[in-house]
Amino acid sequence: MYRTHNCGALSLEHLNQKVTLSGWVQKNRNKGFIIWIDLRDRYGITQLVLDEERTPKSIFDSAQGLGREFVIQVQGTVIERESKNPNITTGAIEVLVEDLKILNPSKTPPFTIENETDGGEELRMQYRYLDLRRNPVKANLLFRHQVSMAVRNYLSKDGFIDVETPYLIKSTPEGARDFVVPSRMNEGQFYALPQSPQTFKQLLMVGGLDKYFQIVKCFRDEDLRADRQPEFTQIDCEMAFVEQEDILAQFEGLTRHLLKEIKGIDIADFPRITYDEAIKTYGNDKPDIRFEMKFCELNAVAQGKGFGVFDSQELVVGISVPGAAEMSRKEIDALIDWVKRPQIGAKGLVYVKCNADGSFKSSVDKFFSPEDLSTWATHCQAKAGDLILILSGEIKTTRTQLSALRMEMATRLGLRKPEVFAPLWITDFPLLEWDEESKRFHAMHHPFTAPKPEHLDLLKTDPAAVKANAYDLVLNGNEIGGGSIRIHDQELQSQMFDLLGFTKEEAQAQFGFLMDAFQFGAPPHGGIAFGLDRLVAILGGEETIRDFIAFPKNNSGRDVMIDAPAPLDALQLKELNLKTTSTDKE
Ligand code: AMO
Repeated sequence: MYRTHNCGALSLEHLNQKVTLSGWVQKNRNKGFIIWIDLRDRYGITQLVLDEERTPKSIFDSAQGLGREFVIQVQGTVIERESKNPNITTGAIEVLVEDLKILNPSKTPPFTIENETDGGEELRMQYRYLDLRRNPVKANLLFRHQVSMAVRNYLSKDGFIDVETPYLIKSTPEGARDFVVPSRMNEGQFYALPQSPQTFKQLLMVGGLDKYFQIVKCFRDEDLRADRQPEFTQIDCEMAFVEQEDILAQFEGLTRHLLKEIKGIDIADFPRITYDEAIKTYGNDKPDIRFEMKFCELNAVAQGKGFGVFDSQELVVGISVPGAAEMSRKEIDALIDWVKRPQIGAKGLVYVKCNADGSFKSSVDKFFSPEDLSTWATHCQAKAGDLILILSGEIKTTRTQLSALRMEMATRLGLRKPEVFAPLWITDFPLLEWDEESKRFHAMHHPFTAPKPEHLDLLKTDPAAVKANAYDLVLNGNEIGGGSIRIHDQELQSQMFDLLGFTKEEAQAQFGFLMDAFQFGAPPHGGIAFGLDRLVAILGGEETIRDFIAFPKNNSGRDVMIDAPAPLDALQLKELNLKTTSTDKE
């Protein structure tokens, strides 16, 4: 038997018991006549003690050579510690070692395996199995497990069944590029790895399964960011005979349950705003509503007063930053430089300080009277002590710039509190999005999303104006889920492919199976998918999903531990009927 207890189990209750423990040497403190060893496993740390008087000499001697991360097994007696450590559960005891066996030695690890490590990101990823031994990383994985089990239990209790769908499939358009897999047995043909199980879950509804869920890997070849990985996990769900309201209620229920069970937080009904409102009020479709700073449009009160910068623009829009009127000239100048950086791209920034004494000081005092500024303040619901920041320009760009500035101000003011949770639904997304480059419509969500029934007529006359029964769930400024009511009618699906620029033949070749299925009694259906990695990260108070994935890829999509992707050898390429690379010409 390797152990009678784990390294987090022993306390004063076990005094004088003979125990066997196994684990890793975290620290070996050798004082000459006495040795203390911190023995670590998943469950905690137990202090071992060996001294010249009480420990057999051979055991004492072999303990001297124990290096960090050696795997050892010890037998000994639980004794009370002289200087106790109240911070750990085993802090009142230590184990007086009577026997010791080295199960496996270890090379010196390339970084310290402690909560605060000296290892850089790249090194920790290369030796991720060592990084996993560190508490913060391990805690994140345990946390992920807790969230995913809570999801499984909740959905299963509600009648959802977990069905696996294939990974070797044909392209499912979700807006990214596919990862493809060559087929050895079908020369010149390729599978695509699913960007999501979208079409399969719809077919499960045609198959009568009624309520489906799956915690499933999805693959997308897209540019990576803190909240994106090329392979990530969805909580994928679909229901038959439902309307949008049913789905929102079901998954608001799930999210509320998670917030309660995982974070102990009660949240009443989630607010809902339409996509158009979100864009107008926050400049983006995933607003962080932990703080206010809603956009106030000032065209009506700021234009036509001789200030050329505003007069010629499509939009003049501001935010009122709470309590920021105290910012110094220098700080404001730095902020102006910040918005002018190419990443934001604003030409300038107008500010109005709403002073505590009721007066105003602005960067445009030459053009506007105190009464004008007071009107702006009323428009922006600015109070004494607030700072109004104003941008102007083309509508879309200006909103995007102000949205970035809003987030920046919130960060600077500490308003993005990780322990506060503010979910909200965004509804009524446009069905289509015009792409200037390809001069075509793209599906805003995906091509299987149903237009709002009352907008069906617009499909022919004004497709850009058609709204969809599509919704996103946003949590603390992150899109954590998205879904829609689907098309279940073959005619409408075919019309949709038409609008998206597919020829009849292309649509048939790519999605014939789905349109066929729609002709065999497809029920009305809809669903949603949550990004599990994002959900877990945000619940854990972070935004970088990599920290919650056991073996993540870096920003170039590489796994630096196993060194993938990697070239294939010539034989394997030949078997797959793939040409060798250009450096390898025949
Ligand atoms: P969507 O494309 O919106 O919808 O994806 C659902 C959720 O998955 C998460 N997500 C990601 N997480 C990490 N890395 C990525 N690269 C990544 N891409 C997406 C987001 C997102 O909200 N089939 C539809 C769902 C449906 O209609 O039911 C779909 O995949 O949190």
